[in-house]
Amino acid sequence: MKVLAIVASPRKGKSTDTLVDRAVAGLRSGDRKVKIEKVNLYDFDIQFCKNCLVCRDRETDEDFSPCIIKDGMNELYPKVMAADALIFGTPLHMGYPPGILMTFLERLCWTFGKPEGKVLTVYGCPVPRSSKERSAVIIITNGIIPPMYRRFCDDTTKAIKQTIRDSLNARTVGSLYAGDIENRGLDPYLERAENLGKKLSR
Ligand SMILES: Cc1cc2nc3c(=O)[nH]c(=O)nc-3n(C[C@H](O)[C@H](O)[C@H](O)COP(=O)(O)O)c2cc1C
Repeated sequence: MKVLAIVASPRKGKSTDTLVDRAVAGLRSGDRKVKIEKVNLYDFDIQFCKNCLVCRDRETDEDFSPCIIKDGMNELYPKVMAADALIFGTPLHMGYPPGILMTFLERLCWTFGKPEGKVLTVYGCPVPRSSKERSAVIIITNGIIPPMYRRFCDDTTKAIKQTIRDSLNARTVGSLYAGDIENRGLDPYLERAENLGKKLSR
C-alpha cells in the first residue's frame, strides 16, 4: 500500500508534523506492507488555480486531466495519483484551512475530477475520473479552540473530506481534531494520532 502524508503547516517539526509522524508510526506498526512518503506543501511552488477550466473541460477517459500551470504541482500530482491512502495534517487558520491547502485542493478538483456529478437537481459537480478507491485520515491542529467546540469551527476537515471524496475517490476513515494545543500540549493527542494511522492500515 502506497501512502502519501501531506502536511500543510509552515512550522516543520511542530504540532501538525509531530502528529502526522505518529500516524505514520501507527501505520508502520501494522501487518501491512506500506510505502510511505511525506511531503510538506510549503516546500512546493503551488500557484493559484486560474479558473481557465482546461482541465475540467478536456475530453478524456484518463484518470487525470493535466493542468496548464507548470509549477510544483507537477511533482505532487504523480504522488497523489500513486497513493492508495492519504494522511492530511494541517493547522486551522481563522477556522479554515490555510491558503496553501485550499490552493492545493483547488488544483486537485478538476484535474482528478470530471464534471459529471449531480447534487440534488444540479449537474456539473466533480466526480472522480478514476475508479481507484482510496482511503484517508485527517489531522487538524489548532491553538486555542478545544475539541468540544469542533462543530462550530471545523470547516477544514469538511473541505478536505469533500474534495478528496469528489475528486480522488477517497473515503475518510477517521479524523483527529487536536484542539487547544497551546494550553493542552500534544500529549493528549499522540496515541490517538497513532491509532488513526493504524486505522488506515486496516
Ligand atoms: C493566521 C493564523 C490563524 C490562526 N487561527 C486560529 C484559529 O482560528 N483558531 C485556533 O485555535 N488557532 C488558530 N491559529 C493557531 C494555529 O492553529 C496553531 O498555531 C497551529 O495549529 C499549530 O500547528 P503547528 O505547530 O504545526 O504550527 C492560527 C494561526 C495562524 C498563523
